Amino acid sequence: MTGPAHRFAPGGPLRGSLAVPSDKSITHRALMLGAVSEGKTRVERPLWAGDTRATADVLRALGVRIDEAADGQAAVVHGVGLHGLRPPGRVLDVRNSGTTIRLLAGLLAGQRGDFTLDGDESLRKRPMDRVVEPLQAMGVEVSAREGRYVPLTIRGSAVSPVTYVLPVASAQVKSCVLFAGLHALGQTTVVEHVPSRDHTERLLRRAGIPVHWRGEEITIAGPAHVRLAQVTVPGDLSSAAFLAAAATLVPGSELRIEGVGLNPTRLGFFEVLRRMGGRIDWHVEGGEEPTDDGPAGEPWGTMTVRHAPLHGTRVAPSEIPLLIDEVPLVALLATAAEGETVVEGAGELRVKESDRLAAVAQLLGGLGAHVEARPNGFSVRPSRLAGGEIDSRGDHRLALLGAVAGLVCRDGVAVSDFAAADVSYPGFERALMEVSGG
Ligand code: S3P
Repeated sequence: MTGPAHRFAPGGPLRGSLAVPSDKSITHRALMLGAVSEGKTRVERPLWAGDTRATADVLRALGVRIDEAADGQAAVVHGVGLHGLRPPGRVLDVRNSGTTIRLLAGLLAGQRGDFTLDGDESLRKRPMDRVVEPLQAMGVEVSAREGRYVPLTIRGSAVSPVTYVLPVASAQVKSCVLFAGLHALGQTTVVEHVPSRDHTERLLRRAGIPVHWRGEEITIAGPAHVRLAQVTVPGDLSSAAFLAAAATLVPGSELRIEGVGLNPTRLGFFEVLRRMGGRIDWHVEGGEEPTDDGPAGEPWGTMTVRHAPLHGTRVAPSEIPLLIDEVPLVALLATAAEGETVVEGAGELRVKESDRLAAVAQLLGGLGAHVEARPNGFSVRPSRLAGGEIDSRGDHRLALLGAVAGLVCRDGVAVSDFAAADVSYPGFERALMEVSGG
């Protein structure tokens, strides 16, 4: 993906109210569970962006009809039932989307026929052994290039239940195993030592499938009848994080972000920001009440963020899954903080859409930040950012990071291939202009 450079430069404070695009993780899951549901599922306010388009297009290739409202505000997924996905007779292209391939691999495990999944240049470098291994443990015939990379080939078969201890904290792997477990005869348990986002578990319960939590264990029983019927997708916290960082850094800012998801397993960045002295509040306005037997539905509400001076902090490995996609933003905040900030246990960032640890050090370093890369994290000292040019490397979160950095760099930042931002946040530049009076 390439595109012209976009310039971001210091301007006025960010003020007013806005809504951010809908949640990417929840949209993927709603489309997929809708696809294997019995009957239709209405998805209200889905995210229509690069990654979720990849999921919708792959599901259509598998024989699922998805109708989209002309204004993009709803989609109706015509479920084909748990075993109804059909081999398309061609390679399924998930493009840039790790979530699409890893979750779908679980759903394809119990179908009839052969399925081959491939993706773009970035996806071809990302590890798939993390899903190959548990699926093989469940008796599924699955192979990957060099045992580790796409193309991934799955021959649908009988799926055996498993107890799988996650070797890396990954919601994608957890979801893959739970989705495969829908097909298995008996109980499938995922053991997660460090909690990761729990959208799959919440949505499974909404689809009528009992999910049981016991300490670190999450258990479902198959074979399951999936009936999702309706789901409303809240705003994406990971997208909100870019605006929250911008409002924190730009003097005079006060921003309200409305209708945003407030799932506790996604709030890590905002907790860290608060710990750094950030003036940020959120309150839940809707969503189902948790039951005695665990969480239900997705909480959502309003977040308010004001400019604030910051101080450094230490982010521990156990926190990382709760802010996995926002770690690069912590580095940017840290340049404006008093004292040192240290992030540890973030090695997973090396296998995202790009090596985000290397990128943070190089990109922010090039703008004048004092960032020291470590094998599993980084440290940042207070820095005066001069500005310059950065390349998004085709990674949406780096494109957005560059844009926010531009607001606080003396000479601004030109972000080349800014179009990559459309993978999760189409319209970011317009939203920024609206709240900064541009
Ligand atoms: C996601 C999980 C995370 C995250 C990704 C979306 C999901 O990946 O980085 O952007 O929707 O499950 P891992 O679970 O592999 O860390």
